[in-house]
Amino acid sequence: MKPLQDRRAVITGAGSGIGAAIAVAYADAGARLVLCDRDAERLAVIAGHCRARGAPVTPCVADVGSREGAQAGVDACIEAYGGIDILVNNAGMLTQAPCVDLTQAMWDEMLRVDLTSVFVASQRALPHMLEQKWGRIINIASQLGIKGGAQLTHYAAAKAGVIGFTKSLALEVSKDNVLVNAVAPGPIETPLVDGLSQEWKAAKSRELPLGRFGRAEEVAPIVVLLASEPGGNLFVGQTLNPNSGDVMP
Ligand SMILES: NC(=O)c1ccc[n+]([C@@H]2O[C@H](COP(=O)([O-])OP(=O)(O)OC[C@H]3O[C@@H](n4cnc5c(N)ncnc54)[C@H](O)[C@@H]3O)[C@@H](O)[C@H]2O)c1
Repeated sequence: MKPLQDRRAVITGAGSGIGAAIAVAYADAGARLVLCDRDAERLAVIAGHCRARGAPVTPCVADVGSREGAQAGVDACIEAYGGIDILVNNAGMLTQAPCVDLTQAMWDEMLRVDLTSVFVASQRALPHMLEQKWGRIINIASQLGIKGGAQLTHYAAAKAGVIGFTKSLALEVSKDNVLVNAVAPGPIETPLVDGLSQEWKAAKSRELPLGRFGRAEEVAPIVVLLASEPGGNLFVGQTLNPNSGDVMP
């Protein structure tokens, strides 16, 4: 028996990086998948990888920055598999600017994509999870939501919001066996950090106790664990920190 055998899982931002690695790990763990991304081409590639590993996959092209887009993955899961067991809110974006230069549009977009989508998708999934008395919601935050980051006030605010949302929702629904947790990675080598200079990345690596950035494949197994039984059973409102030792909360 695989750890997520036949579980019905929605993963947002599955077309790249951490989300793609979670999709592949969930396929190997036996889950039935709805993979969401706004990038149809990349999504199709990852969907193909997961199908090749034997997983049923329903792709869902949607922008989680809109209310309808954030609900679309859950709706697709209900339609394809008759319910939802696991929601992984992973889709996220990164822009950078000093606070004095940050436009209202940049702030609003960041909050919509990285925070509001987590609320909207979770709210859509909850009635189904509460009724069946089994559900797992796993939110991908960031260590910057804990330690902050210069030129990243909007990103850090959104990710801190994700951590607060996770704790509060966990308090509301854990008695019904809906467990809500977050993962707050440190620097992970994905396209999200492509925009940062090699120089900055090298300096940052030297500063990390582990001496290197993480890889998406090193984050994904934590997201499997949180949805597995019995390994994930006792995590309630926690934030797990795969961060090469950068923050020790
Ligand atoms: N890479 C890191 O160092 C790092 C560190 C901490 C947290 N994170 C978080 O991990 C998550 C995944 O990041 P990643 O590094 O894999 O990034 P990535 O850029 O490789 O992948 C993000 C995916 O999300 C999709 N996406 C972005 N905005 C979307 C939207 N509005 N609607 C639908 N899909 C959208 C993109 O198309 C992409 O496929 C994000 O929430 C990010 O904030 C990343």
